[in-house]
Amino acid sequence: QELQMNLEQIEKGGYDHFMLKEIYEQPSVIKDTYRGRLLANQGIVRMAGVEDNLEKFTNAKRILIIACGTSWHAGLVAEYIIEEFARIPVEVEYASEFRYRNPIVYKDDVVIAISQSGETADTLAAIKLAKEKGAFVFGVCNVVGSSISRETHAGAYTHAGPEIGVASTKAFTTQITVLTMLALRLAKVKGTMSTSEHQRYLLELELMPEKVEEALASNEVTKQIAAIYKDAPNCLYLGRGYNFPVALEGALKLKEISYIHAEGYPAAEMKHGPIALIDESMPVIVIAPNNGHYDKVVSNIQEIKARSGKIIAVVTKGDTQVRALADHVIEIPETSEPFTPLLTTIPLQLLSYHIAVMRGCNVDQPRNLAKSVTVE
Ligand code: AGP
Repeated sequence: QELQMNLEQIEKGGYDHFMLKEIYEQPSVIKDTYRGRLLANQGIVRMAGVEDNLEKFTNAKRILIIACGTSWHAGLVAEYIIEEFARIPVEVEYASEFRYRNPIVYKDDVVIAISQSGETADTLAAIKLAKEKGAFVFGVCNVVGSSISRETHAGAYTHAGPEIGVASTKAFTTQITVLTMLALRLAKVKGTMSTSEHQRYLLELELMPEKVEEALASNEVTKQIAAIYKDAPNCLYLGRGYNFPVALEGALKLKEISYIHAEGYPAAEMKHGPIALIDESMPVIVIAPNNGHYDKVVSNIQEIKARSGKIIAVVTKGDTQVRALADHVIEIPETSEPFTPLLTTIPLQLLSYHIAVMRGCNVDQPRNLAKSVTVE
């Protein structure tokens, strides 16, 4: 028993839970994921699976992304990034919906399947269906030799290392890293981005590990906030643009490890109903980096304050306008708008982790959940 305990402690690298270890591994595994693929100073980003199938991507009239859970959220972030950079239409579908609705799949469609475990039954079935319909299927997996990595025509691995915590964290940020590199490669080939802008993004992507490291410094603040809101019955997460999927992901993290009901919403959708939920017992997490539609998010915050909602805002370092309005602010470093999800998700991972620990939940193995849903 004693030995077993010690073994586990060693495996956790001294962290109390695998999830916390994996949250803190993100700077290094993002670097591992772009190592050998991102040569920013030479203006090059390349992944073998993409290079070998470049014409499939450049001829594609649209890209379909299929996934489940957190991987589906990574797909949503990728939709914004690929459309912005490479101007190829992207549709993101839940694999479980795609596989049963007799989906329309064209021969020149490119399908991207995202899966940390590479064993998710719905995603595997969706891949097989897409292949039957003649599409080229590209996998983004974290487990080498997994079923999905073998079923897809090609792919690119995230190099996140084993993700033990059921709640996905480093898989999410490394999936976004791979998909960002894909979007930048396609933008270059299709000429939808100037060389100088392309170079700026490559250099900024190379800086992301250290910026994620800086975002992890918000751990203490998120722990203090967690102590205040750990007994909230509900929680709302709001974000716009690239950070709308991060709002969904933040809500999923809280739900699955602390069992608090949480919902992610596009910030502007508040006035179409959900704002009726707001009262002093409803903490609202607002993702408000200083780019994108910052001023619109500020007015959403004012609407919530007018209804005595409690605001926890994720802001860019040095922000003063949101700080004057919010009950709590968590700072992240400045970065370009398309890369903000890699940073805004960090405090949300930490917040849900601390709340779950304070509630005495089993953080690494939440009730009723499996790490990989290999059955329907
Ligand atoms: C996310 O925290 C959950 N563990 C779950 O939603 C997970 O993302 C989903 O089951 C997909 O798993 P996969 O990436 O291994 O396919």
